[in-house]
Amino acid sequence: MRHDSLQNLLAEQFAAAIAQVTGRPADQIDPAVRPAGDPQFGDYQCNAAMALARPLKAKPREVAQRIADAVTPLLADIAEPLEIAGPGFINIRLKGEFLSQHLSEIPAPRAAGIEGSRDQGIEVDRVGLPPVERPLRVVVEYSQPNIAKQMHVGHLRSTIIGDVFARVLAFEGHEVIRQNHIGDWGTQFGMLIRWYREHPLPTPQVHADVLEAIENDYRAAQQRFDHDEQFAAEARLAVGALQSGDPQARQVWERLCAESWRAFTELYEHLDVLLTPENVRGESFYNDRLPLIVEELRQKLGTAGAPATAHEQSHRADAASAPRGRRALLRADQGALVIYLYDDQGEPLFKNPEGQALGMIVQKSDGAYLYATTDLAAIRFRLKELEFPSGGIGAQRVIYVTDARQKLHFQMFFACARAAGWITDDVRVEHVTFGSVLGPDRKPLKTRAGQTVKLRELLDEAEKRAYALLENRDQGSKGSRDQGIEGSRDRGIEGPRDQGEEAPAVQFSEDEKREIARRVGIAAVKYADLRNDRTADYVFDWDKMLALQGNTAPYMMYAHARIRSIYRKAAERFGAPDVYAPHVRLVITHPAERALALRLARLREAISDVATNLTPHTLCTYLYELAADFMRFYESCPVLAAPDETARLSRMRLCDLTARTLKLGLGLLGIEAIERM
Ligand code: ARG
Repeated sequence: MRHDSLQNLLAEQFAAAIAQVTGRPADQIDPAVRPAGDPQFGDYQCNAAMALARPLKAKPREVAQRIADAVTPLLADIAEPLEIAGPGFINIRLKGEFLSQHLSEIPAPRAAGIEGSRDQGIEVDRVGLPPVERPLRVVVEYSQPNIAKQMHVGHLRSTIIGDVFARVLAFEGHEVIRQNHIGDWGTQFGMLIRWYREHPLPTPQVHADVLEAIENDYRAAQQRFDHDEQFAAEARLAVGALQSGDPQARQVWERLCAESWRAFTELYEHLDVLLTPENVRGESFYNDRLPLIVEELRQKLGTAGAPATAHEQSHRADAASAPRGRRALLRADQGALVIYLYDDQGEPLFKNPEGQALGMIVQKSDGAYLYATTDLAAIRFRLKELEFPSGGIGAQRVIYVTDARQKLHFQMFFACARAAGWITDDVRVEHVTFGSVLGPDRKPLKTRAGQTVKLRELLDEAEKRAYALLENRDQGSKGSRDQGIEGSRDRGIEGPRDQGEEAPAVQFSEDEKREIARRVGIAAVKYADLRNDRTADYVFDWDKMLALQGNTAPYMMYAHARIRSIYRKAAERFGAPDVYAPHVRLVITHPAERALALRLARLREAISDVATNLTPHTLCTYLYELAADFMRFYESCPVLAAPDETARLSRMRLCDLTARTLKLGLGLLGIEAIERM
């Protein structure tokens, strides 16, 4: 089985052909092979001719013809005769025989050596996709809630999106370490430590929701801090006590951490995300390193005492030339230590709205360190010290998932870390942002009482609504039978019924119904978040996300269950044939069959796309289109009533490949497909 996607396979051949035409080495050529804009013209297209026309001093169409001539022998088994269109696009249509061959290489689920993703040992059916040849050591940082506060909808997106990256990259074969950079350090703990000198710490014996009780105390302590000077002074002293390791202060802090983690872990399990307590490396972990970080910055960046004029700044910055022609300067500013960054022209990289250089404070005049200092320590740790299970040291790719409001902070500390030589050109460091979750009024989602929505409440509601949906559906399908979705004909989402396919009566016990509701509810919330371009805001809409039609989790899960049911029925009727037996041939003739086969063959492309560009919605789109392709296929290519055995076995195998692909894809999105629904 090839490691590469179809697109890469074609790109390779086109690069070789363009090398022949231009005399340039193939590895320096961008063959510009893309999926076709309009399937009418083919499956893929090569757009390289236009850019080559000038250097070759020829008309683009002529260049296209030369490339097409050179590539044709290389594609003999792969593509139909090429077509040149418009100014010089080369349209590529894959041969049915090639698609059939390609898909035939996907082994039966068990023979596929149901292989675990490297770090989890979770059993997954890889649907024939081997891991990448050159795995990287990757850190994915996500979720990052704060101690003593309940997780709210603001943490939902980071948690859901980050989890997809962790799953997809691990599936691709990379070595992934998940990091939960929990906010567990800072001056706010002074208030709480002071507070709990006079109040008992909440306990599970007394409080149904300990974290909620702690958060209430937090708010009360904050109030008092703002109005009671004595209290505020003592709270500040308590910060010092905590930092210098005072046992009592430490004990309170540890209890707060433990209770918060417990609540977070429960939520992660409920949400079915991979984060465990082992992935927690909170801000406090870096505390001891902060003085060293500042010291190293002092050594690596230029330093200056007094505030400097712009001219002096750029002049001094010269002294500390950093990689990429940038310069960084560490300056003492009224007792605080501030980093300023400049481009190679000596212009500040970051400016405030007034146009003045914007610095990043790494130590305050009272000696305290900041959020940014911790982030510098964390990135240095991840790139230089973190040990991976394979024994390798230091990540080669670091992904941070936070909301877009922190963009500037990330840009600044990345630039500092570059200047300090921690981020080098051979590593990839990415800040992955996302938009807000909005209410129906298009303002950030709030409860009716105007409060932030607690994640826990949100998930409970999701389940309740999913349960009601199942109930309604069952009542809606009337008749005397208790039918599952499989049996409800009136929904119209399931496409036509095959000749001979009967509406089955699926009986679900109360427990089963609850379990399905749980999975569908969580899946709906996750999928509604993932299906949009993550940088956009989206409106949280229960009815839409739980709809059985459209690009929703219930629809996708239903499609999977339906395909399984079609397969089961055929298997029952025809004596459970082995559709992966060597003599079974995939026959790709009907256009709908071909469209489905092509979509299935593009799975690697869809997954790699998420791994490279960190865009979960592209995988959602792929799966949605796959489901649609399947329904069209099923409309015109009956399975149970196939004309002969060859066609039936081939179509059954396409059913199975589709269900396996859906299941894998949903799994990578953190959604568990179900067999019956
Ligand atoms: N705990 C922070 C918050 O809730 C997010 C941390 C983001 N990660 C980081 N490395 N700064 O806003």
